[in-house]
Amino acid sequence: MPKKKSILDLYKMKKAGEKVAWITAYDYPTAMFAEAAEMDMLLVGDSLGMVTLGYSGTVPVTMEDCISHCQAVRRGAPKTFIIGDMPFGSYQGSDEQAVNNAVRFLKEADVDAIKLEGGVRVQTRIRAITDAGIAVFGHIGLTPQSSGQLGGFKAQGRDVKNARGVIEDAFAVQEAGAMALLVEAVPPELTKFIAEKLEIPVYSIGAGDCDGQLLISSDMVGKFQAFTPKFVKVYANIAEIETNAYKVYVKDVKEGVFPSDDYVYHITDPIEEFEKLFKEFE
Ligand code: KIV
Repeated sequence: MPKKKSILDLYKMKKAGEKVAWITAYDYPTAMFAEAAEMDMLLVGDSLGMVTLGYSGTVPVTMEDCISHCQAVRRGAPKTFIIGDMPFGSYQGSDEQAVNNAVRFLKEADVDAIKLEGGVRVQTRIRAITDAGIAVFGHIGLTPQSSGQLGGFKAQGRDVKNARGVIEDAFAVQEAGAMALLVEAVPPELTKFIAEKLEIPVYSIGAGDCDGQLLISSDMVGKFQAFTPKFVKVYANIAEIETNAYKVYVKDVKEGVFPSDDYVYHITDPIEEFEKLFKEFE
């Protein structure tokens, strides 16, 4: 098992042109499987609200939800670099609120870094959290927490005017002291430009090639059924495997096939002794 990555390793990997592979994880088993697969990092995204809690967006997710899922992921992946996602409402209020909640992630869930959404408009938040000694990942382009403002889960930076805003956001995030940047759902030309210009590592989710790739685990293994974004490569169909297993189980139970002798605990005293015992209660 390779040793746990640090921020310094991420910088070295960028310099060496070595790609970083990461996914989201929300629970103990996924974290275990990801660590066994030698995933470079894990994000406990507030997408947990949609893919594990069934909300239609990320806005309802609370600090308590995020902390508890981060704790489960840390238990499953003790040797993996973990990023905790700051949920909507946990940093919008003030720099002080942002620092206090970022501190909670480190103290209560043992994460290695936190992520928050936005560029120019969250510069002072990033600076304040960084000044508190916490590694920050920025997140620009399509920012799901502000999908209401963006008119939905829509790709960003497709025209020059909008691309200018994405570039300004990228520079603002780096200038504020963030250690890395995640760019979501923008054209690859724009991502390439940003990754070349920025000194910090730039990672993509649905934004083409750069220093590394992130995917939502539930999308890539076919667990989240509501919709699959265009940029997701689906590597497995867990929903089909799991549903089929449940169907066979239901049939087995109804037909008395399960539990057979293989799936029960056997008595250790002679049956006659048990029959005597049962008689006492008749
Ligand atoms: O919450 C999340 O999983 C994220 C990704 C969409 C990047 O922030």
